[in-house]
Amino acid sequence: MRTLLVAGNWKMNGSLALVEAFRQTFAAVALPARVEVALMVPFPYLNAAADAFRDTPLMVGAQTLSDRTGGAFTGEVSGGMLADVGARLVLVGHSERRSLFGEDDAAVLARVKAALAHDLTPVLCLGETLEQREAGRTEAVVLGQLAAVCDALDPDERSRLVLAYEPVWAIGTGRTASPEQAQSVHAAIRACLAEYSPTLAEGMQVLYGGSMKAANAGELLAQPDIDGGLVGGASLQVDDFLAICQSAG
Ligand code: G3P
Repeated sequence: MRTLLVAGNWKMNGSLALVEAFRQTFAAVALPARVEVALMVPFPYLNAAADAFRDTPLMVGAQTLSDRTGGAFTGEVSGGMLADVGARLVLVGHSERRSLFGEDDAAVLARVKAALAHDLTPVLCLGETLEQREAGRTEAVVLGQLAAVCDALDPDERSRLVLAYEPVWAIGTGRTASPEQAQSVHAAIRACLAEYSPTLAEGMQVLYGGSMKAANAGELLAQPDIDGGLVGGASLQVDDFLAICQSAG
């Protein structure tokens, strides 16, 4: 049985005070046995979060990384730097990076490879826009984004990914995919993975993201192909995020 992963994505939000609030709460909490938890915090808080969460179940992740290893790239942050300050995961291909920062499939692949090169777990985000869904292209878009990465990796590299299905129309809108809509896309993702290898498909964690909150997490996480959540807004309140973690597993 796959472990569930609930990961918070603070986006460009948060503070050292919020890091401390999470430390205090998660240091004292018992989570369901099958549940892993992570927080993707902004770069400036990574080091503090890695230190603060050492005696908690929280893993620390980043929200993006450069595809370069180092050098004259003002403002960029490499995978090596993330690993150095204690990050264990990194989001790649979030829809906000794709749409607002021009990251196409090639840029996403380069960042996945950069993460793997530094033993970071890439959480590869996939998702269709409302227009694409209404045009009946959901699976073509999502599986195309998946193939653009998986086709270029070897089997070992593929097995080190975590996937997150985040329908763009559900992100930050309060409009969650229904459990049936989400399960249907997750099942299509797993069927696509099975074409690479049944073992890969069986082991891969595929998270759901898009307006997940305590009130809807239970039924989403009960779906057979949903292996956790990628939580934006509700990860900024420690009690809300904890309630989502506790509704899993
Ligand atoms: O990466 C998480 C995300 O994009 C979902 O955000 O605020 O809809 O939970 P939100």
